[in-house]
Amino acid sequence: MGVEIRVEGLTKSFHGQVVWRDVTLTIPAGEISVMLGPSGTGKSVFLKCLVGLLKPDRGHIYVDGHDIATCGERELYAVRKRFGVLFQDGALFGSMSVYDNVAFPLREHTRLSEREIRSIVMEKIELVGLLGSERKLPSEISGGMRKRAGLARALVLDPEIMLFDEPDSGLDPVRTAYLNQLIVDLNQQTGATFLIVTHDVNTARTVPDNIGLLYHQHLAMFGPREMCLCSEEPVVRQFLNAQRIGPIGMAEEKDADELAAEAASSAELPPLPPIPLQLQPSNGLPRPSQRPPGQWCAEHGVTPPPGSFQSTTPTFPPVTAHQTGGGPS
Ligand SMILES: Nc1ncnc2c1ncn2[C@@H]1O[C@H](COP(=O)(O)OP(=O)(O)OP(=O)(O)O)[C@@H](O)[C@H]1O
Ligand SMILES: [Mg+2]
Repeated sequence: MGVEIRVEGLTKSFHGQVVWRDVTLTIPAGEISVMLGPSGTGKSVFLKCLVGLLKPDRGHIYVDGHDIATCGERELYAVRKRFGVLFQDGALFGSMSVYDNVAFPLREHTRLSEREIRSIVMEKIELVGLLGSERKLPSEISGGMRKRAGLARALVLDPEIMLFDEPDSGLDPVRTAYLNQLIVDLNQQTGATFLIVTHDVNTARTVPDNIGLLYHQHLAMFGPREMCLCSEEPVVRQFLNAQRIGPIGMAEEKDADELAAEAASSAELPPLPPIPLQLQPSNGLPRPSQRPPGQWCAEHGVTPPPGSFQSTTPTFPPVTAHQTGGGPS
């Protein structure tokens, strides 16, 4: 079962340069949360702090009574076993086969026999559609396949917390749809807590229970999906709707001249698009943290954009090795 991650007043800088400051949020147990933000705003740094690979300057990260920000190496090693992490670059060992990469956490953290390891590794390799590629080296498979190998490795210890850094970057749209379905299905089957960094607005709008946005050295928003998708806050609105008009420019923040030019040209914001329904598990059962569509809006007296909660999000059949294996990605 998933556990909650409570982050309090977290600040991180490198060589005096602040990445973000005073980040406070609670990632709810067993739910899927997505973290967004322009490139370079510190999403990957945030994930690395959560898993204890980087030490924040200040603040706390509580996981089940352990403070990852301040605890010692031994305690950290024990807590880390409860995390499954997919790094942005896959972070596979180049000299090891896909099989050995996926088996690595089991050999490192458990006393299972090679026979038991084989059964788990092959199950996860099949789950991500890489059957047939297990003997290949990372350099012999495509970028998308490396992502999926990293995903299989993140899953082998049946983690209670899964952190995925851009699992969908470099994937074609069909595989992104399969991956999103896989994430929703895994969340339902395992009850684990998920935090996913993505740049895919469609993923952000349909997959999570909660959405966060890092911008300009702080956490601009973190909260239920419906709250963020209704938000009139310019940065949140611009980002979640992939718009050009708003405070975010090509090099992160627009300067005063650019904003003034935008205002002068009376560039009008397009209306908020309808809020789609959440992606559902493929077995037809509800998500673990399922809330009725529109509940947050109703409870907070917010009128959702016209047409919300009407469109059925596309559903996909469960991923099978036959469907995903072998071909290019
Ligand atoms: N180990 C490090 N040493 C020094 N600076 C770092 C280190 N890691 C990250 N940074 C800096 O911290 C900032 C945030 O980097 P990070 O990789 O977290 O961004 P990001 O939001 O994940 O971006 P992207 O969307 O492009 O992946 C950047 O300015 C980066 O140069
Ligand atoms: Mg990153």
